[in-house]
Amino acid sequence: MLKCFVFMLFLGTGRSATLDTQDMLQKIDQLTAISDQLTARVAALEVNKRAFFPGPVAFHATLGNTIENVGDHQHIVFDNVITNIGGGYSPVDGHFTAPVRGAYAFFVVLTNTPGHSASIQLLRNGGWLGSVLADDESNVSYTTSTLAVTAQIEAGDQVWVQNELKFSAQEQIDGANWTSFSGHLIQAN
Ligand SMILES: *[C@@H]1O[C@H](CO)[C@@H](O)[C@H](O)[C@H]1NC(C)=O
Ligand SMILES: *[C@@H]1O[C@H](CO)[C@@H](O)[C@H](O)[C@H]1NC(C)=O
Repeated sequence: MLKCFVFMLFLGTGRSATLDTQDMLQKIDQLTAISDQLTARVAALEVNKRAFFPGPVAFHATLGNTIENVGDHQHIVFDNVITNIGGGYSPVDGHFTAPVRGAYAFFVVLTNTPGHSASIQLLRNGGWLGSVLADDESNVSYTTSTLAVTAQIEAGDQVWVQNELKFSAQEQIDGANWTSFSGHLIQAN
C-alpha cells in the first residue's frame, strides 16, 4: 500500500514536472517570438531615427552686392552663407529646401538704397508666405525692415525670397550684408 502510494506520488510528481517543463518551453518560445519582434522594431526605429529625431536645421545668408534694377519676381540669391546646418540652403539659387517636415521660423531683413524703395516676398513652393517693404520717403536714407514668418513646412518644400512686382522703376536691394535671409526648424512633426 505504501509502495503504491510512493509510486503514485512519484508518478504524480513526474507528470507535473513534465507539464511544467512543457509550459516553460512554451513560454520560452513565446518570449523568444516577442524578443524577435522587439529586435526587429528597434532595428526599424534605428533606420528611421533621423526622421524621428532629426538634427538641428538652421541657415543664415546675406546679400553681398547691391541689386540694382531688380526685376519683377526676381529670386534673390543670398551669396554670403554664414550658417547652413543641415545643408538646406543653396547659395546657387537662394532656395531653402526643408530636410524634414516640421514647424519652421523664417526671417527676412530688407534694406533699400537711398532714393529707392525695395519690396520682397517670402514664398513656399510658389505660394505666398509674407511680404516686407523698405521705402525711402526722404530720398536720402537707408531703411531696414524685417519680416518674420512661422510655418508648417513639408519635407522637400522650397522656401525662397523674391522681388515683388516693381511698383517703382527704381527698386534696389542693398547688399553689403544689410539684407539677409535666415530660418530654422522649431520642431519636426
Ligand atoms: C522723392 O522722389 C520722388 C520721385 O522723384 C518725388 O516724387 C518725391 O517728392 C521725393 N520726396 C522728397 C521728400 O523729396
Ligand atoms: C559681408 O560678410 C562677409 C562674411 O560673410 C565678409 O567677408 C564681407 O566683407 C562682408 N561685406 C561687407 C561689405 O561688410
